[in-house]
Amino acid sequence: MLKATKKLTIALPKGRVRDTSMALLQEAGLNLTLDGNSRALRHESEDATMFELRNSDVPTYVELGIADAGIVGKDVLLESQSNVYEPVDLGFARCHMSLIRARGDKGPIRRVASKYPNVAATYLQRMGSTAEVIKLAGNVELACLTGLADAVVDIVETGSTLRANNLEELNVLFYSSARLIVNRTSLKFKDAQLRPLIANLRQAVQAEASVLYNA
Ligand code: PRP
Repeated sequence: MLKATKKLTIALPKGRVRDTSMALLQEAGLNLTLDGNSRALRHESEDATMFELRNSDVPTYVELGIADAGIVGKDVLLESQSNVYEPVDLGFARCHMSLIRARGDKGPIRRVASKYPNVAATYLQRMGSTAEVIKLAGNVELACLTGLADAVVDIVETGSTLRANNLEELNVLFYSSARLIVNRTSLKFKDAQLRPLIANLRQAVQAEASVLYNA
């Protein structure tokens, strides 16, 4: 167990990522326990306080220092444009961000829908495109099947959504996985807690990777 003179505050996204994150943090020596109440949003343990959040809120809590550290996907982190330290690629929740359109569609791309409007706009700008970006909240692939948009920028994980809807990927923007993020000020003031945690997490990820590699 990490000796905590100052308790850490950790922000985790609810759902599957929370459980994998808790297991990894545990392996790294940080014991987080869940409150018995399933609706509790704040969980106290001896080592740390854990906040359970929507994934897109994790960078906000960490950047503003309400949480010292958090775990979030690179996709969400890039979209947030937050200024945080990102010391460890945790290697799970792998997916990629792609420009997607209806298979066989050859028309110009003037409008692009996305749950990630900043990511989409940055990419289009880099490509020299003046396409308009429309922000949607979910099921974004439907936008290019209905004429709302000519293409979408979205996450591909297994590819099932693409196949089921006769869509194709035009370009991969980047590959994403879960990242440890740390508030820059916390890193200075709680370095005795955070440095070992970062080192232990790096080790845990490497150990996991070598098990996979040697399998
Ligand atoms: C995500 C993403 C894609 C789908 C990709 O959506 O936006 O639609 O998963 O996964 P696949 O390649 O395994 O099919 P999510 O399920 O989170 O739902 P949402 O669009 O309602 O946010």
